[in-house]
Amino acid sequence: MKIKKSIITGGAGFIGSNLTDFLVKNNHNVIVLDNFISGNKKNLSHHKKENVRVIKTDISKNEELERYFKGADYVFHLAGLAEIIPSIKNPKKYFVNNVLGTLNVLEAAKKAKIKKFIYAASSSCYGAAKKLPTSEKSKIDLKHPYAVTKFMGEELVMKYASIYNMPNISFRFFNVYGPRLNTSGQYSAVMGNFLEQNKKNKPLTVVGDGKQTRDFIHVYDLVNAFLKTIKSRTVNEIFNLGSGKKTSINDIAKIFGGTKKFIPKRPGEPKNSLADISKIKKKINWKPKISIEKGIKNLLNS
Ligand SMILES: NC(=O)c1ccc[n+]([C@@H]2O[C@H](COP(=O)([O-])OP(=O)(O)OC[C@H]3O[C@@H](n4cnc5c(N)ncnc54)[C@H](O)[C@@H]3O)[C@@H](O)[C@H]2O)c1
Repeated sequence: MKIKKSIITGGAGFIGSNLTDFLVKNNHNVIVLDNFISGNKKNLSHHKKENVRVIKTDISKNEELERYFKGADYVFHLAGLAEIIPSIKNPKKYFVNNVLGTLNVLEAAKKAKIKKFIYAASSSCYGAAKKLPTSEKSKIDLKHPYAVTKFMGEELVMKYASIYNMPNISFRFFNVYGPRLNTSGQYSAVMGNFLEQNKKNKPLTVVGDGKQTRDFIHVYDLVNAFLKTIKSRTVNEIFNLGSGKKTSINDIAKIFGGTKKFIPKRPGEPKNSLADISKIKKKINWKPKISIEKGIKNLLNS
């Protein structure tokens, strides 16, 4: 089988490193571009150099990225700053990283005439969605700088598709979890926090009353959607990428087990979030396979 060449920005991070593993298994040689601000070299250390080349670079500062893109078939643009509260404290840093960074990656990919460009957008663009499940046509409601910058990145990606005829796809991820989830940060998401607290035998910190619901998608289901998408003829589309199932934080805590500690609500977070995934199911013929119970059990054993 012909070896394909893929670029992954942010490939040392949680999702990017899982994607690297999956692509290598599927006959891709991967070039990872990462500045390791939240990613870790260890996430990729099990790969052979001939399969995965890791380059330390900041995509928001490097305007000569195209030298890495020569001969590339696919670009997966995952690099970005990904936390809400730090984005409220430092919007400029988020703008430079997530918007200018995306522009630099798009320019390099445009010159390389790649076969498909995949962008990691965010379901945060829906804010507090009125209609659940939320479809891609729902109103955009940007509640904080993180959401603004991810959405601006998506707008750039879709404009490059229409102006320069680039074969681009934007995925609006819902809550992604799985191996190598970020657990260390003060602002890491619920699954990461619960995992760390479970390991240390500490109570699980539940925000608000814990009745709020989220759509959790396992990272293996997510990367499988990427692979199906690059194999399909579909281009210039935006897809929700979630499980299509809602789970309350109290239910997640129950699966983890142990005691709970309730902490105050945080700004900019919706009460409920649920993806309508009918578009990707129909156009890409993808559906999630890993149940939340199985996904969390695997996480606890990993
Ligand atoms: N995890 C989720 O639930 C989720 C939900 C919606 C969207 N996303 C998006 O998916 C992408 C990946 O998220 P993740 O959860 O794997 O986060 P992560 O922090 O683990 O990964 C991001 C990676 O990007 C790198 N990076 C950041 N800025 C960079 C820069 N300027 N130059 C080079 N590398 C840079 C980091 O070092 C890290 O390796 C992000 O763009 C995020 O906004 C994630």
